[in-house]
Amino acid sequence: MKNSTYIAGFSFYVPDTILTNQDLEKKVDTNDEWIVSRTGIRQRHIVNSQACSDLAYEACLKTLERSSLMPGDITHIITATFTPDAYVPNAACIIMEKLGIRGIPALDVNAACTGFIYGIELARGLCVLWPGSKVLLVASEVVTSRINFKDRSTAVLFGDGAGACVISGESFDHNASAGYIRDVLLKADGSLGGLLTVKGGGSAYPLVPGQKADDDFFVQMEGREVFKHAVRSMKNISQDILERNNIVAEDIDLFIPHQANIRIIESLAKSMLISNDKIFVNVQEYGNTSAASVPIALADAWEKGRVKPGYLVLLVAFGGGFTWGAALIQF
Ligand code: ACO
Repeated sequence: MKNSTYIAGFSFYVPDTILTNQDLEKKVDTNDEWIVSRTGIRQRHIVNSQACSDLAYEACLKTLERSSLMPGDITHIITATFTPDAYVPNAACIIMEKLGIRGIPALDVNAACTGFIYGIELARGLCVLWPGSKVLLVASEVVTSRINFKDRSTAVLFGDGAGACVISGESFDHNASAGYIRDVLLKADGSLGGLLTVKGGGSAYPLVPGQKADDDFFVQMEGREVFKHAVRSMKNISQDILERNNIVAEDIDLFIPHQANIRIIESLAKSMLISNDKIFVNVQEYGNTSAASVPIALADAWEKGRVKPGYLVLLVAFGGGFTWGAALIQF
């Protein structure tokens, strides 16, 4: 088919340090029972001293190996993140230097937790323009760098990690993990932006030299409102992408939703009449890793044998902005 794009080499990396709910009980006024019953999360991996590019580098190395490519084969690097190493240079340039790649385009995309799905669509666009492209797409987040561990309403929800893949206009022959990107659908609504923010440090609220970072420099969220919009937006976009591909939920072999909260995932499944065995969930181990959540879940599912040849997989995510998106991948 003309303009076809393919995806392969899924992998993920999380830092070694594990922060359990019991560890959090010692830092903030919370308890394991509350966290598990409200979110499903039991632990998350957090960095010690690594930055976004360090996590991304590890995931990229594994992805190159799994897609049988060398760093020099890569034609573009896209990083999805809202927690880059720095404002300038962008994370993609730092990652490219670590990988020993020079002279190709490297850019970051910030669509919060939907960043990986936005990245897939950008990579698809590049592959339509340049079918020989091999786009290295990595979503990497050190969310804990923007978490106020005194705020129990957000401190328990997030973790750090990275997930990567390669996208090309040419099929990855003989690659066991290769899939065909059948469709992608993206949406955003800026009127909901205030529900989930990190206000401080941007040009609207710059950090003044010597100023102490206050609560506005960390993730702030209206949890209940975010919850409602998350379920609604992921349900609607899932139905839209199914409809425009003339398929129904039953045709999907595996749903891989953004891993923010087990109750959001269960509400989505219930509203779409999806049985539990068709939904991949690993939020209990990693917490919400923002843009990295979907590629970590995809690579984890693949490693666990949950993604089989012939499977039709639906990725769906929502995040701050608000942004939301879905991708259909045929294995
Ligand atoms: N431990 C113990 N108690 C807590 C904690 C905590 N960590 N956090 C809040 N509480 C208390 C509150 O203070 C409140 O107490 P009160 O009744 O005495 O006032 C009570 O628990 C209920 O608080 P709510 O905020 O109403 O709890 P809710 O049932 O809504 O659950 C949660 C909160 C888990 C945050 C939920 O709203 C949620 O999951 N929202 C979506 C969040 C999300 O997914 N965000 C990320 C998505 S976007 C992205 O991924 C970037």
